[in-house]
Amino acid sequence: MIRIEDVSYEYASGKRAIDGVTLEFRPGTISAVLGESGSGKTTMLMCLGRFLRPQRGAITLDGKDVFELPEAEFRRKVGIVFQKLYLFPHLTVLENMVLAPVHALSRPSGDARHEAMEMLDRLGIADIAASYPAQVSGGQAQRAAIARGLLLRPEYMLLDEPTSALDANTTDAFAEWLADLKDVTNFVIVTHDILFARKLASDGVYLSGGKVLDSGRVDDMIRHVRAGQLVEAGGRRD
Ligand SMILES: Nc1ncnc2c1ncn2[C@@H]1O[C@H](COP(=O)(O)OP(=O)(O)OP(=O)(O)O)[C@@H](O)[C@H]1O
Ligand SMILES: [Mg+2]
Repeated sequence: MIRIEDVSYEYASGKRAIDGVTLEFRPGTISAVLGESGSGKTTMLMCLGRFLRPQRGAITLDGKDVFELPEAEFRRKVGIVFQKLYLFPHLTVLENMVLAPVHALSRPSGDARHEAMEMLDRLGIADIAASYPAQVSGGQAQRAAIARGLLLRPEYMLLDEPTSALDANTTDAFAEWLADLKDVTNFVIVTHDILFARKLASDGVYLSGGKVLDSGRVDDMIRHVRAGQLVEAGGRRD
């Protein structure tokens, strides 16, 4: 279980992007992180992924402070795919995918390639295996980056706006793919897309101004906050 306890993060500019956040991401669930633009979602993910160190509070993984875990152990357990950091530009999509399993986990190259191709196939993007990242669409690169992260079988997989570059049909297929993988890893998904969150996630948290405005079951939460901030985002595709 990932537990965030009274965590605050302030940028050098003095902006407090996360302000006393306490929440849990339980294993066996897909969790959604919702909230308007600028509410601190990415900052929280950066803290969870150890790219930013909160000035206050604690983040633990199965009771252990994540900042105390050895780098290799932490990276094996927690995968993270940001919105804009995709793939190495000088490697093909397939080469990108097998890099870590083969070099960091010493998996046989043939096995890793086979598994990577299977994943790309299930995602409907097997045809881009031999392409370089610059030759594929943003949505395809994003899915390939997520598939690459999943090949390492992390306990937790944190995704920042994974559907931002996808159309509605592709989003639906992608949601099904993630749902199929929920036994493989525990997803924490930052998203603006309420419909996507509702389809996929059971639990969720709603951030506003760096604070937790609401948390609990996504369905209840959405009804709860609907009167306020969520109307705009939820109204689009409801
Ligand atoms: N590097 C930075 N330096 C200073 N302030 C920052 C920095 N990055 C983000 N912020 C500020 O921190 C707050 C939270 O930003 P964050 O990117 O975490 O929001 P978000 O919820 O992910 O937004 P979005 O939905 O637009 O991605 C915002 O007010 C933002 O302007
Ligand atoms: Mg963000």
